Amino acid sequence: MRFHQIDKAAGLRGEVAIPGDKSISHRAVMFGSLALGTTEITNFLQGADCLSTISCFQKLGITIDNLTGNENEPERIIIHGKGLNGLSVSSDVLDVGNSGTTIRLISGILAAQPFESVLTGDASIQKRPMKRIMEPLSEMGADVKSLSGNDCAPLRIMGQPLHSIHYHSKVASAQVKSAILLAGLYSDGITKVTEPIISRNHSELMLRTFGAKVWTEGTTAILEPHPSLEGQKINVPGDISSAAYFIAAGLIVPGSDILIKNVGINPTRDGILKVAKAMGGKITLLNEDYEGEPRADIHVAYSELHGITIEGDIIPTLIDELPIIAVMAAAASGTTLIKDAAELKVKESNRIDVMVENLSAMGCSIEGTEDGMRIEGGNPLNGSVIDSYDDHRIAMSFAIAALIAHGESEIKNSDCVSISYPSFYSDLQKLY
Ligand code: S3P
Repeated sequence: MRFHQIDKAAGLRGEVAIPGDKSISHRAVMFGSLALGTTEITNFLQGADCLSTISCFQKLGITIDNLTGNENEPERIIIHGKGLNGLSVSSDVLDVGNSGTTIRLISGILAAQPFESVLTGDASIQKRPMKRIMEPLSEMGADVKSLSGNDCAPLRIMGQPLHSIHYHSKVASAQVKSAILLAGLYSDGITKVTEPIISRNHSELMLRTFGAKVWTEGTTAILEPHPSLEGQKINVPGDISSAAYFIAAGLIVPGSDILIKNVGINPTRDGILKVAKAMGGKITLLNEDYEGEPRADIHVAYSELHGITIEGDIIPTLIDELPIIAVMAAAASGTTLIKDAAELKVKESNRIDVMVENLSAMGCSIEGTEDGMRIEGGNPLNGSVIDSYDDHRIAMSFAIAALIAHGESEIKNSDCVSISYPSFYSDLQKLY
């Protein structure tokens, strides 16, 4: 489907179960491949990005079964891991599709293998900055080259023996941190990564589950090399970044009352909940639980939101939610200011420019800044033609904006939601 048309909605009601977390699904495949023995993953995200990770590890010689479920057993991924040194050379180029997490994390692993690999991806991936991983990996002794000479993919990686480093990252980026930690698994000493603000810590938590010695001191992640990783059972919580669209819809569509089931609420990811509450949102966590990662059901009801300033340490905890937060801000009364979020410019699209273009088209008063956006909310939105720029989070954000806009909206290239949430439109439709 290249277009999706959405009309203004009355209240959304009912329950929605959110598919598995994208970041955690990627890591479960990667760490399961590097562990000895079988890893079984349930509630794995069957989105295009995570399937790219599976396909890369299959090309590196790992057997991975993607089993459909039945009444007795849930859908499962089974990984037949071969240990830290069990990967073999791929005769093919490794294609990561649209996935920044795949290319950056796998680079850390491939940097240490005794063979050469070539990585590429789609048009968006070929524009995203890779210098942020090439620099620290090179400091560790890696040989990573951008084949087009612009510090972007395609990348050629010639595996090398690696040394450990203490890297001080300029950006709070879990992809950078994880790439270095994964290379650190193969290095000659203790690896440390210090970030300006702590980024999502799924790699640290899950590497520990698989048996690695990894810990955190302040904003520094520290890892010992050469652990014996052992296969695990991983039950992936629902993705809070996907739940965010339903949280926003529940809050801004008058008359809504929704229960969002089994959502990951890791504190390095839960900024959307804090922001929604600070804007006046009625949100309650129910059935809180812990299995490798914290999770809960989230109840949301229609609320009259007001604008706030979002800046500083909270930004990495909601970086992927800023497009939908901008939609909430358009529905809220008063001004919302988003600062310290220059990273938005180097995501799957330039999310500052694309939000400004599309929210303006809907009649919202919004201005892009160097590191964020200023949104004057509260005016009615009108339906419009929206260009998703093939960015899944933009398409989903505007599907929600369309629910409160007068008239019909049309989202171009709407099928890009399959990157992180293939059943998004049908799940949304079940609520109204
Ligand atoms: C991710 C980290 C974040 C996030 C991305 C997933 C991860 O990127 O935006 O969607 O799984 O590690 P950065 O590391 O570039 O901030």
